[in-house]
Amino acid sequence: MEVRKVGGYIGAEIMGVDLTTCNEETFQKIKTALWEHGFIYFRDQELTTDEYRQFGQRWGELFVNESPAIEKVPGYAEVEEIRKNPHELSNIGDEWHTDQAHQKNPCMSTILYAKVIPPYGGDTCFASTSAAYDFLSEEMRQKLQGLEAVHSQRFLLEQVAARTGDPDGRFAAGIKKSKGSESIHPVIIAHPENGKACIYVNPSYTTNFVGMTREESKPILDEIYKLILRPEFNARMQWQTNSLALWDNRQVWHYASNDYQGHLRILHRLVVKDSLQ
Ligand code: SIN
Repeated sequence: MEVRKVGGYIGAEIMGVDLTTCNEETFQKIKTALWEHGFIYFRDQELTTDEYRQFGQRWGELFVNESPAIEKVPGYAEVEEIRKNPHELSNIGDEWHTDQAHQKNPCMSTILYAKVIPPYGGDTCFASTSAAYDFLSEEMRQKLQGLEAVHSQRFLLEQVAARTGDPDGRFAAGIKKSKGSESIHPVIIAHPENGKACIYVNPSYTTNFVGMTREESKPILDEIYKLILRPEFNARMQWQTNSLALWDNRQVWHYASNDYQGHLRILHRLVVKDSLQ
């Protein structure tokens, strides 16, 4: 197995591994690579849906998403189908986020497997909140230490619907259903696997710091976001059919580029539960 870094602070390609046969020793090395690099990917993996789910189960319990906006691969409750049809205008995930930050115990990692890729575009972009933490000013670190922030699913859905006009009706049902679905998390978390500090706020879900209004919170959030979005802390995944990527939601944001209008894109997604424990 070879781990080839994508950038100085984020991302790695893992080479020389067949995910259908990889033994426990190799799997542990893959885990370590994910905790170290935040997002990792493999090319040319041929997995049946059963093998894909089994690979996901090696990471932990898989989340079953009940959102009406999420389709499933028939017969597989945990395997989501992230599909954008050629006639659709909106996609899922075209704003920076960490998955399910509004949940009391948000998910640990997400695993995407490419089935149909458009002829151009459709990259998934990543940003490292752990690398950014190391570059926070001392003053900002002091300010954030001990702070908590509110994360709201309704905020996410309303922002997306307002920005896009919800042209395919993906988000309307979710907005209705998600009333009050929010959680509070510390702004600086220690990564449960290796202890490194990560900034846990994001533009999609985070509304405000506890004890501050949205207006008071905004300039601080904007300053943090600007730092996390420095190109040094970012990387992007250019998909090929049968590429498989994983990211660690404790330490990276991601963003699904919606720049392939008129083309089909299908990825399968697994979400591994339990991140902040
Ligand atoms: C997501 O936000 O989980 C979707 C990512 C993608 O489709 O690239």
